[in-house]
Amino acid sequence: MASHPAVQFLRSVAPTLSAGILTANLAHLEDGVALLEKAHARLVHFDVMDGCFCPMMTLGPPVIKAVRTPLRKDVHLMIADPLEKVAEYVKAGADMITVHVESCRHIHRVLQAMAGMKNANDAARGLARGIALNPGTPLEALGPLLGEVEVVLLLAVNPGWSGQTFIGSTFARMARAREMIAASGGDIILAVDGGITRDNVGEVVAAGADLVVAGSAVFDGKTPLPNAEAMLAAIRNHSCGPKA
Ligand code: DX5
Ligand code: ZN
Repeated sequence: MASHPAVQFLRSVAPTLSAGILTANLAHLEDGVALLEKAHARLVHFDVMDGCFCPMMTLGPPVIKAVRTPLRKDVHLMIADPLEKVAEYVKAGADMITVHVESCRHIHRVLQAMAGMKNANDAARGLARGIALNPGTPLEALGPLLGEVEVVLLLAVNPGWSGQTFIGSTFARMARAREMIAASGGDIILAVDGGITRDNVGEVVAAGADLVVAGSAVFDGKTPLPNAEAMLAAIRNHSCGPKA
């Protein structure tokens, strides 16, 4: 079976960076995103927190919609009960929507519902469905869901805040997730999010991440453009496969 168009795109740029904007200047978000474009990043990562699944509240569909960019919009929903809410994020122009396995009772149903939704930017791109797991969630939860996802996102920090330290056990979880993905026979992207910096990004890519999410390593309040360029270069240098 041919791969999902969104997976084809992600494979064509993998391994690569999805840059989180939470620590960018949110009053001038488009300027931050423009710097990512200039650095030749391909994806921008929106961390959505609802004050319920996570203590903080961040942004929602209107902000995602307002950002005009050719970058693919990677929307990470750290929200409770996403079933009734995902459609608004699709309408707002998400290219990829990741929901948490811990976020509701019927997570399989959420993924099934997303399968029927069209990418509002360009239907031909497809809508990538991601499933995220917190660091404390057994990987076995992935098994029944692998037939309904294009992306597996392993959190390397507990969700809620930027600038935390990468949890070392993530490497073993990546190895096991890769085995599970291979055994499923699906063409599924492995992404890792949280605590990834210039110092450890090479190790994360070498361990098999197709997509690396980094926020504060790019938007550090100082030099986002060279930071993004350096992260992309480090990812390229540690990749064994096609260059990002
Ligand atoms: C964790 C979020 C991450 C985080 C990334 O709650 O999902 O995307 O903001 O930030 P850094 O790269 O600073 O850990
Ligand atoms: Zn995230």
